[in-house]
Amino acid sequence: MKKSILFVDDSRQVLDALARMLQTKRDIWSMTFVDDPLEAWEILQSTSFDAVTLDVNMPVLRGLELLERIKKTEIGRDVPVVMLTGLGDRHLKRQALDLGAADLLNKPVEAEDLIARLQNVLRLKEYEDLLKHENSWLERKIQERTVELYRSRQEVVWRLGKAAEHRDNDTGNHVIRVGCMCRVIAEALDLDSEFVETLFAAAPLHDIGKIGIPDAILMKQGPLSEAERQIMMRHCRIGERILTENAAALRLFDGDGAVPEIRSAVSSRNPLIDMAARIALTHHEKWDGTGYPQSLSGDAIPIEARITAIADVFDALMSVRPYKVAFDERRSLAIVSDSVGTHFDPLVYEAFLKALPRVRRIREQLRDCPRYSPHEDHCDAPDPVCR
Ligand SMILES: [Fe+2]
Ligand SMILES: [Fe+2]
Repeated sequence: MKKSILFVDDSRQVLDALARMLQTKRDIWSMTFVDDPLEAWEILQSTSFDAVTLDVNMPVLRGLELLERIKKTEIGRDVPVVMLTGLGDRHLKRQALDLGAADLLNKPVEAEDLIARLQNVLRLKEYEDLLKHENSWLERKIQERTVELYRSRQEVVWRLGKAAEHRDNDTGNHVIRVGCMCRVIAEALDLDSEFVETLFAAAPLHDIGKIGIPDAILMKQGPLSEAERQIMMRHCRIGERILTENAAALRLFDGDGAVPEIRSAVSSRNPLIDMAARIALTHHEKWDGTGYPQSLSGDAIPIEARITAIADVFDALMSVRPYKVAFDERRSLAIVSDSVGTHFDPLVYEAFLKALPRVRRIREQLRDCPRYSPHEDHCDAPDPVCR
């Protein structure tokens, strides 16, 4: 493809002379000659050139001013500009370079000099274009990989969360819905977007500790005995341990002289896992301090856990469990609202109500598989909603 070059000089004779000098380049260069700087400025705002040659001394619009304008446009910022100056214009030359001129040529111009300079700036421009192209390709690739990585990370989290609840709810999307609901509630609370995204990713692991609870208790239909309830309550600490316990692994790496990259990957903090650990430990705490395992109350319960608690309970109320049927929305909302100020943070409840239309959409789009056969409509377990 021909390289395009624009020549701007208020003297027609100079332009004609330049055209004659460059006659031999007509096959490879597409050359435009303009003797009106204002017309040149019009053209330059809509047409992209591979190089521009400007006379410094022009009436109406001086060469330096035109150069400055070109460099401020998106289309002309990276176009090399060669300035034609008089021999004695030292100050002007410095100014031209400061304004971004690629090269300077003294008038009268010799054909060889002009061709050599233009060839140089064109080659430079070609390399720069190539580099820009490569960079944007690389950026696109990085973006694609980042999205892929984000998706696979989220998929692993969801599958891990689902694995944890597989024994007592093998058909449901509960953990995925809880993550989505936490996101819309957190947005209604105006929490910052990074926090919201971390919560969305971490909340599905809230019951990961159920992996450590025996079948007989986890899958028991009907109420748990006090002893069974004590065992069930352990899932919070088990979950936290699963998500924080890497000290032993680190010692093992140190002792075995493991690959340093692995060691640093294990030791570096991970905001998602950190938050998931806090949620696993505190998602059964209650606003009035009657929850478990630490009887935390009010703001001492991390906000991520207060949000997860309401999403988790509401979704569990609306879903089938081994120990309960699915309640309708009116009944579920009434139970949640009765627990505001005791179980739930009133501000989080307000945000939950604000987000309710989106919460409904989440339930609609992520419905459970209807394979489950509902139980009798009764539930007299001490904490029937979400153990
Ligand atoms: Fe739980
Ligand atoms: Fe849950």
